[in-house]
Amino acid sequence: MDPVRNPYAPGAGSPPPELAGRQDVISNAETALRRLSIGRSSQSPILVGLRGVGKTVLLVKIQHIAEAEGIRTIYVEAHEGKSLPELLVPGIRQALFSLSLVENAKDKARRGLRVLKSFLNGLRISINDIELGLSIDPETGTADSGDIEADMPQLMLALGEAAAASREPVAIFVDEMQYLSEKEFSSLIMSIHRINQNSLPLLLIGAGLPQILGLAGNSKSYAERLFSYPKIGALSEHDATHAIVNPAKEEGVRIETAAVHQILDVTKRYPYFLQQWSYEAWNVASNNVITARDVFAAHNNALSTLDESFFKVRYERCNPSEKKYMRALAELGSGSFRSGDVAELLGVKTTSVAPTRGKLIKKGMIYSPAHGDTEFTVPLFDEYMKRAMPSFNLRG
Ligand SMILES: Nc1ncnc2c1ncn2[C@@H]1O[C@H](COP(=O)(O)OP(=O)(O)O)[C@@H](O)[C@H]1O
Ligand SMILES: [Mg+2]
Repeated sequence: MDPVRNPYAPGAGSPPPELAGRQDVISNAETALRRLSIGRSSQSPILVGLRGVGKTVLLVKIQHIAEAEGIRTIYVEAHEGKSLPELLVPGIRQALFSLSLVENAKDKARRGLRVLKSFLNGLRISINDIELGLSIDPETGTADSGDIEADMPQLMLALGEAAAASREPVAIFVDEMQYLSEKEFSSLIMSIHRINQNSLPLLLIGAGLPQILGLAGNSKSYAERLFSYPKIGALSEHDATHAIVNPAKEEGVRIETAAVHQILDVTKRYPYFLQQWSYEAWNVASNNVITARDVFAAHNNALSTLDESFFKVRYERCNPSEKKYMRALAELGSGSFRSGDVAELLGVKTTSVAPTRGKLIKKGMIYSPAHGDTEFTVPLFDEYMKRAMPSFNLRG
């Protein structure tokens, strides 16, 4: 059918044609935002799940809800090679600048900018365009110890106070939180702790891979109290069916029940894959009906598109020994396996591949669902590894 009308066409960052399910996550976030608006605190939701389950889509949706509530938002995506201050400072600076134009918040916001300046001095960060815009004296002695766990809370307090003075709450969104260091993550926890102690209108909302559950380090007990970790997984059969059927229906196209079942089956109800299979099935179908035959005919297209994009970009970030480790893990099948079993397949001791495993966890390729267990963070990645490295001599 006409690809121009294909509702499942992937668009970088655009919302899915039908945001299926997730009502409880959305309504809990809505409640937290409304509470923020009336000056009540809530646990900060951190959405946790594998790649492609729809965490970012939800985070963006929640950001839009916040903005509609009149909440100022700061949205950042962590990645390797950029520190948390570098990520957050531009948004914080912008928020403080616009708060400095609000009559009642002027003084607090200008103070916030001075604290921001000392924060940057303390961490010896120079961010070009920021430095340019900050022709203001630092507040020496505040937020400039150089220890992010001490300084970040002071900066956030200053921002929270300016927000309180303006009566405009602030919500900070951090995606891909697994790329933060333990200290950075802990600095956010301590910030929220201080914000709540002082009843300031600032909320953190995050998302990331399951390894963030182990990131809290020394602040673990605080994290458990201050954060909630809603799990985002594959869609239920009911919701996945809606995600497949409704966008086509909007275009006057019917998807046969057998076709729906086939998509549910091959995608294991993971949102990213649902979109991909529906997209390819649409393209091969004709006559405003998508049949099981069409889904079957679209199978190779869907797989090779995924291989070339979703899977490959992740695979290529790994070095040969990391690939070998992942290939061995894939050999065991899909799901979670003992690290010892992976090592055994490789013919080495668990301790000798522990550094490789550690690096793969940092890179977000695998995670540890329980102590000593290992699983891919990307659904169906085991099958991809077998395609990418078909004749692999594991002991070689
Ligand atoms: N609830 C949903 N219903 C239908 N499609 C979804 C849903 N959530 C996500 N998707 C689709 O799945 C893909 C991956 O979503 P994304 O938010 O990028 O995942 P993540 O951030 O967890 O890796 C996107 O193409 C998105 O359109
Ligand atoms: Mg994402």
